[in-house]
Amino acid sequence: MFDFRSLTVPVVGAPMAGGPSTPELVAAVGAAGGFGFLATGYATAAKVGREIAELRQRTDALCVQGPEAGGHRGTFHIADTPSETPLDQLLEQVRAVTELPLIASGGIATADRAGALLALGADAVQVGTLLLRTPEAGTKPAHKAALADPRFSETVLTRAFSGRPARALRNSFVDEFSAAAPAAYPYVNTLTTALRKAAAADPDTLNLWAGTGYRHAGTEPAAVVIARLGARIAERRCTPSHSGLTKTSHRTAGE
Ligand SMILES: Cc1cc2nc3c(=O)[nH]c(=O)nc-3n(C[C@H](O)[C@H](O)[C@H](O)COP(=O)(O)O)c2cc1C
Repeated sequence: MFDFRSLTVPVVGAPMAGGPSTPELVAAVGAAGGFGFLATGYATAAKVGREIAELRQRTDALCVQGPEAGGHRGTFHIADTPSETPLDQLLEQVRAVTELPLIASGGIATADRAGALLALGADAVQVGTLLLRTPEAGTKPAHKAALADPRFSETVLTRAFSGRPARALRNSFVDEFSAAAPAAYPYVNTLTTALRKAAAADPDTLNLWAGTGYRHAGTEPAAVVIARLGARIAERRCTPSHSGLTKTSHRTAGE
């Protein structure tokens, strides 16, 4: 089993389907000392097979996704309303029942936030939105631009694009269709695919997936983003005011 404690940088590049996750992005995050994570949503089995063959990454771990995460929220059933339980609390609840490596995810964009989650028992933190504007990400240019555009000033949870709850920048499509959108994934997704393809350059029609930390997403290479976050997490761990927050809750003596 993969040991997350072997990572030089305890940061996971989140899986992000629909273009952003490329084997190149996954490899760049891994090469920078973090953990690259391939997305398989929307992909055919043949495509996934090709990408896995390219990456050869495997692990056994749990990803704990909080309410601030960008993109689709994990739920057991499509009609479920995702929980609003804060990530910190969720992480503690999951840690209480398992020793599996845990990846904390959702809205993470700073070393302070990452450090706090690692101190609560996460083995790594996962960042998705933070990588969306990097050159390696296959994010549509209109999506990249919207993440930095002051006109898009908040994220909301919506079923408007796919029929499943997902966090996106609030745009005209969200305003117009959220109230009417049924819990009917993948049908709503299929219905809006052609629209979104035709409007690839129109940020008011696109599904602009984004977590709450989207204002921190920069345009530097993924390696720089991951290495800087890792360095700041390490610095924070050495700072006396934070050094008491060491990870002890689930470790046995001698580890
Ligand atoms: C553009 C985008 C696409 C995503 N696609 C997937 C996916 O295919 N599979 C998945 O498990 N999570 C997906 N997610 C959710 C991420 O894996 C992760 O939970 C989320 O990015 C973490 O929150 P953050 O974006 O605030 O860092 C996606 C997120 C984004 C932003």
